[in-house]
Amino acid sequence: MYGLIRQWLFRKDAEQSHELTLNLLRRFANTPAALLWRQRVPAKPVKVMGIEFPNPVGLAAGLDKNGECIDAFAQMGFGFIEIGTVTPVAQEGNPKPRLFRILEKDAIINRMGFNNHGVDYLVEQVKAARYRGVLGINIGKNKNTPDAEAIQDYQHCMRKVYPYASYITVNISSPNTPGLREFQYGSALHELLKALKIEQEQLSQQHSKYVPLAVKIAPDLTDEGVRAITDALIEHGIDAVIATNTTLSRDAVQGLPHADESGGLSGAILFEQSTHVVRVIAEHAQGRLPIIAVGGIDSPAAAQAKLAAGASLVQIYTAFIYHGPKLISRIVKSL
Ligand SMILES: Cc1cc2nc3c(=O)[nH]c(=O)nc-3n(C[C@H](O)[C@H](O)[C@H](O)COP(=O)(O)O)c2cc1C
Repeated sequence: MYGLIRQWLFRKDAEQSHELTLNLLRRFANTPAALLWRQRVPAKPVKVMGIEFPNPVGLAAGLDKNGECIDAFAQMGFGFIEIGTVTPVAQEGNPKPRLFRILEKDAIINRMGFNNHGVDYLVEQVKAARYRGVLGINIGKNKNTPDAEAIQDYQHCMRKVYPYASYITVNISSPNTPGLREFQYGSALHELLKALKIEQEQLSQQHSKYVPLAVKIAPDLTDEGVRAITDALIEHGIDAVIATNTTLSRDAVQGLPHADESGGLSGAILFEQSTHVVRVIAEHAQGRLPIIAVGGIDSPAAAQAKLAAGASLVQIYTAFIYHGPKLISRIVKSL
């Protein structure tokens, strides 16, 4: 079934088919048409960051940036859904085209640039959703915010989403917002984490609930860099790490159509690089930092390998575009 839909969608421009799909999912989520994608997946409960997840397979950030299709993705059987990245103020993102399929490798290159309707709009979508399951909200900074004021952007988003999020992801690893990845290093990282932990402490008192913070990192770090971030996350009491975002590397797609487009590369070809990061974190953290693994998961075996490398949860994006909702149930059943 998804094969047919995919054939039709893949004839269109990548971003157009993305928009079209999200519009349909949003419109028909709570109607009988949802039978087209609704599926039951077995319960495989797991507790991470103090949260009970019905199963360990989640939707990665960036697919539902504005939180408009939460109910539809829940109907597909995801154990958790991460929406965003959202920024304080709406922004258009980079000029189009900015999303490219590399069909030969089931891969995607994107340089979307945090196109989103802003945090207030996202909160309205969350409030309107029927979903009561685990919801991650991924936050970032506006492109026009100077790096010196980036922390305020994250704090602003945290305050807005805190009452509605099961956990909050701090995205410092998108390659498509200039300067963002610099927050993965040294004093910039420490200052950001310190400020966000203070904010979390205040918000947890104000709302009488503790919402865990996860930090999402890039796959293009040296092992030394990964260990340094791991140390910083543990030192500041961050609740989990999400490894990884898309890569800047093009080694695996050299010579293929679109391979020279700038942006982040994702899909099965990211699997090894991303799993290596998971392994380095797990070996270094020795159980002190839960890991959510994302990057190139396209099969039950790939998901199992992430868990074996030390992850507690997994997320999917690109392979979900190529294989559809059945991938979720196939993975969950295998675990
Ligand atoms: C089109 C596209 C947009 C994305 N947007 C975001 C985003 O806004 N925030 C984020 O943290 N990750 C974003 N990602 C990264 C994914 O969440 C994921 O980390 C990455 O694609 C690797 O997983 P995959 O190989 O399963 O796709 C995006 C990925 C793609 C393909």
